[in-house]
Amino acid sequence: MRILNFIYLFTFLSLTLCLTQAQTIVQSQFEDLVAVFNLLGHNTSKLTPSSICLERGISCNIDVITGIQLETISENVVIQSNLFIFPNITQLKLSNIIMENQFLLDMSTNCPSINVITCVNCTISQVPYGNYKYGTLYLPENQFEGTHYLSEILPFPIFHNPLNKKQNINWINNFTQPTDRTFAELTLTTSSFPDFTYLRVFSFTIYLTDSFPNGVITNIEKIPKLTALNFYGDLLQQKKNLTFPLSFENYKVGSFPNNKFDFKSSGVNWHIARKLDLSKSEITSFSIDAGFELQDGSKPYPIVKTNPSLLKSITVKNSNINTVDFGFLTKIFSNDISGNQISMAIPNITLYNTDRIAWSIDQDVPGKQRQLIGLNISHNNFYGEVPQWVCNVDADISYNNFTGILPDCYACYLNDQKVRDRIQGNNFQNYQDDLPESFWPSCYAYVRSFFWSKGKTLNSYMLHIQGQTLGINSNITVDFENSTSGAVFKNPIMLKANEWYYFDLIMEPSMVAKIAQENLIRVSLNDVYGHSTSFYLFDGIPSENITYARDYSQLYAQTPFPQDPNPDTSSESNPTTSSTGGNGGSTSTSTASTTDSGTTPEPNSAILICSIDTLMIFLGILIVSL
Ligand SMILES: *[C@@H]1O[C@H](CO)[C@@H](O)[C@H](O)[C@H]1NC(C)=O
Ligand SMILES: *[C@@H]1O[C@H](CO)[C@@H](O)[C@H](O)[C@H]1NC(C)=O
Ligand SMILES: *[C@@H]1O[C@H](CO)[C@@H](O)[C@H](O)[C@H]1NC(C)=O
Ligand SMILES: *[C@@H]1O[C@H](CO)[C@@H](O)[C@H](O)[C@H]1NC(C)=O
Ligand SMILES: *[C@@H]1O[C@H](CO)[C@@H](O)[C@H](O)[C@H]1NC(C)=O
Ligand SMILES: *[C@@H]1O[C@H](CO)[C@@H](O)[C@H](O)[C@H]1NC(C)=O
Ligand SMILES: *[C@@H]1O[C@H](CO)[C@@H](O)[C@H](O)[C@H]1NC(C)=O
Ligand SMILES: *[C@@H]1O[C@H](CO)[C@@H](O)[C@H](O)[C@H]1NC(C)=O
Ligand SMILES: *[C@@H]1O[C@H](CO)[C@@H](O)[C@H](O)[C@H]1NC(C)=O
Ligand SMILES: *[C@@H]1O[C@H](CO)[C@@H](O)[C@H](O)[C@H]1NC(C)=O
Ligand SMILES: *[C@@H]1O[C@H](CO)[C@@H](O)[C@H](O)[C@H]1NC(C)=O
Repeated sequence: MRILNFIYLFTFLSLTLCLTQAQTIVQSQFEDLVAVFNLLGHNTSKLTPSSICLERGISCNIDVITGIQLETISENVVIQSNLFIFPNITQLKLSNIIMENQFLLDMSTNCPSINVITCVNCTISQVPYGNYKYGTLYLPENQFEGTHYLSEILPFPIFHNPLNKKQNINWINNFTQPTDRTFAELTLTTSSFPDFTYLRVFSFTIYLTDSFPNGVITNIEKIPKLTALNFYGDLLQQKKNLTFPLSFENYKVGSFPNNKFDFKSSGVNWHIARKLDLSKSEITSFSIDAGFELQDGSKPYPIVKTNPSLLKSITVKNSNINTVDFGFLTKIFSNDISGNQISMAIPNITLYNTDRIAWSIDQDVPGKQRQLIGLNISHNNFYGEVPQWVCNVDADISYNNFTGILPDCYACYLNDQKVRDRIQGNNFQNYQDDLPESFWPSCYAYVRSFFWSKGKTLNSYMLHIQGQTLGINSNITVDFENSTSGAVFKNPIMLKANEWYYFDLIMEPSMVAKIAQENLIRVSLNDVYGHSTSFYLFDGIPSENITYARDYSQLYAQTPFPQDPNPDTSSESNPTTSSTGGNGGSTSTSTASTTDSGTTPEPNSAILICSIDTLMIFLGILIVSL
């Protein structure tokens, strides 16, 4: 114990010594910085040239100061630019101070290395015209007022003025010809939507003021090809009623990186003439928080048609919408309709290969696990039973009025807080939020089969595991009983939630040969069984030989699902999707096995059938919590 303490002390001391010795700054910069500390109200009695670099917010390089980010402690601090002469700083961040506009321009001469200036809650009311050596200016909570010209901020590719204190402010475009400058990120608080004619803007964020007019937004038809457009109206005294621009139905993205256009709005109540048809639009994500209604006052789900391969994520939350069509939602990769007033049962549907909501692999990045949730219906009034297909979707069903039996895909993982969060606030017959662990329902999970396939590159392989109720967050680990290879695999990629995982492996041929001999696979996962790790054994021949493995290297997010009998490139309400009683996913695949192309795996590929045919031992473990 004592020795340990000593070691800690020693390490600590040598570390401190090391740091302080490395960074002793030049005396003149030290004195200048102490003067700044004093002005802002910091106690400087203990600061030394060798300790000042350890202060919070101060960065140094060798013997000079390179960054200053300081809190203001005193009240009503007035700052002069002649106090800030630091030849080597690249970043300056101050807050809650009184400063002249001229300070911004003076920094270009006083601090010639400066790249970024941030001043939060300062008194800037204008960016003076002049030559700036820096290009990034963050001015949240400042005092811009009245008319401003966009030419004023043209020196700054990145300019942010969110949450401006004054409410009467207009940014006017007085350009008469195109400029060669680009605003990469522009955030303005303004009472009118700026006219961007002749300007290039990538990402634009608008903070609406109280005097922003309701109704049709002038100039919005003139927006250039943006990568992002964000509206914020959360802090207004009265919520704005704005007319949703139908021109978005034909919005085309530019040719910048990613070809993206993300539309996002919060705190604005949008009124729209009719439901949106976005099938010709190139919008890539669409998000409305708080308010979307038709002009007749009805509140249906506002979009009827999209191109799901482009529009990846749709959020319409906290917006009082009261109906939704699952035939539409299932075509979209990510859906958030939380916090509405939807009162209905979830229909029992069959998921097809075109139902992106269930793809576990990102629709844009082959091989990458989904990051966005598939379905968030939290805080609505859905009722009835949770149908089985929801287990194949990354979903949040919390705070509804679901009854019936909690599906096993949740019941088996109640030990995981994340799983409990996603089902809480319902009325399940066998589970309530406050139910003690010892009364948690029993559940059933098993591994059905495993097989090998070729990977993306030479020497890369995939080991596939299939079963029921394997979880979506369950830390699956695979090894082989009595292994001679000693192989252990962790962190597989989910291909179908709860049913199909694969490990992406790079292995030497000799190792491959060894593993190919091993037949008794042991899968462990963290489920409620023993509240830790359960083992599931599959004793049998892998359904696909490692040496003759099929090539699975293409994008195959759709593979686990049966072919959509009624495919359509654009998403629309599709009655066949919503029909009840269809066969669930993997068992209805017996006709699709004729394709034999080695490159593009078809949905319902032969491998799947093979694995079911060779099913010899079907080892399930009944989990009963004690
Ligand atoms: C500054 O801190 C020192 C001790 O750290 C203390 O003695 C001194 O009174 C403080 N000065 C002020 C102005 O608070
Ligand atoms: C600091 O700035 C001065 C003056 O521009 C320059 O000569 C010196 O090399 C800089 N030092 C470092 C460590 O960047
Ligand atoms: C803004 O700064 C002033 C000093 O200039 C200060 O009195 C006020 O409390 C600050 N406001 C906020 C929200 O921090
Ligand atoms: C825009 O107006 C400002 C202020 O009147 C002026 O300084 C600037 O030169 C004008 N810019 C253009 C491009 O006309
Ligand atoms: C916005 O519209 C709602 C009705 O949808 C109305 O109650 C409210 O008064 C309107 N607000 C404004 C500022 O016009
Ligand atoms: C689902 O939506 C609710 C309410 O908007 C939110 O609190 C929750 O974090 C979301 N769930 C997930 C998993 O993101
Ligand atoms: C939830 O459903 C039950 C019947 O299943 C019903 O009595 C109750 O009113 C519902 N609760 C809400 C908040 O709608
Ligand atoms: C999975 O492992 C991670 C890190 O080891 C851990 O934080 C997480 O809680 C585990 N998940 C479950 C469901 O046990
Ligand atoms: C693994 O080893 C144990 C004990 O040596 C033996 O009982 C068991 O049958 C072996 N399993 C296999 C699949 O060889
Ligand atoms: C795997 O290959 C071996 C020969 O190396 C063969 O005997 C065996 O039948 C093959 N198994 C399958 C499932 O193809
Ligand atoms: C939903 O459909 C599946 C597959 O056809 C069926 O097994 C299941 O009983 C159905 N569930 C309900 C609640 O109708």
